[in-house]
Amino acid sequence: MNNQPWKIAIIKDHYIKTSFAPLTRYSPIIEGAPVLIAVFLDISLSYDRTKDVQAIGACIQNMLLAIHALGLGGVWLGEILKNKDEVSKVLNAPENLELMAVIALGHPAEEGVKRSRKSLEEVVFLNNFLST
Ligand SMILES: Cc1cc2nc3c(=O)[nH]c(=O)nc-3n(C[C@H](O)[C@H](O)[C@H](O)COP(=O)(O)O)c2cc1C
Repeated sequence: MNNQPWKIAIIKDHYIKTSFAPLTRYSPIIEGAPVLIAVFLDISLSYDRTKDVQAIGACIQNMLLAIHALGLGGVWLGEILKNKDEVSKVLNAPENLELMAVIALGHPAEEGVKRSRKSLEEVVFLNNFLST
């Protein structure tokens, strides 16, 4: 149905950015980024929550890929969701918007560290989950 259930706030205002910092243990990332992108699900457009949350995840991932392609750096911040109501309040978000993530974005200060991934054997199975 092409409902495009996202609403996005781009935040450059110093005061708003500062008020986000105490809401997450990743405050240094928030404070170090010149721009934040707050991504919301518009629940008034949603008829299947799982599908629409997946759509938001794809939206966020596409933004991260575009950020990377522009030579910038972006970090997906999910831990701040524990304070999503406070974030919504600071942004004057209407009731129908639910925070899904904040992206911190800027010029990377250093090359990213390559993070580990689980082995394929741990996550991919052939035919059924009994295979080894
Ligand atoms: C759903 C989701 C939520 C995340 N939340 C945070 C977060 O709150 N803080 C943070 O520093 N990184 C967060 N990340 C980034 C992950 O820590 C990072 O993707 C992971 O360590 C793997 O690193 P890589 O993507 O550079 O390979 C999140 C990533 C995802 C997919």
